[in-house]
Amino acid sequence: MGSQIDWSALVAQAWAVRQQAYAPYSKFAVGAALLTDSGDVFTGCNVENASFGLTICAERVAVTAAVAAGSRKFAGIALVADTAEPVLPCGACRQFLAEFNPQLEIYCSGRDRHQVFVLPDLLPSPFSGLQEGLR
Ligand code: THU
Repeated sequence: MGSQIDWSALVAQAWAVRQQAYAPYSKFAVGAALLTDSGDVFTGCNVENASFGLTICAERVAVTAAVAAGSRKFAGIALVADTAEPVLPCGACRQFLAEFNPQLEIYCSGRDRHQVFVLPDLLPSPFSGLQEGLR
């Protein structure tokens, strides 16, 4: 069973926003485009800081932009970087994405190759100890 998501437009938006990445330290620019259930798209790029630990990843920028605009239901996210192999979300971002949709579809792309995952492929056991109270 394939994904219902038409990834091509989403991936293009991820490449476009990647150009805005602020990554003077790592020089590793990442772009993300997050699709909501209602078809809206929110994008994000990584934003680094001289205090390295404050750096925020592209995925979390996209999610926070969506939430600030009133969207919390997400179908998929496209993630791109200029690497030969697909770029996969870091552990912190996997947990952050699991907050809103533990079954989120994730399209990971590099220059030459892409892979599509569902979040449980990448994070089988997210922390969910406090989720019960939200339902
Ligand atoms: N980065 C992301 O934007 N997303 C990830 O999932 C992994 C890493 C960024 C953070 C940092 O600015 C740069 O890539 C190198 O780690």
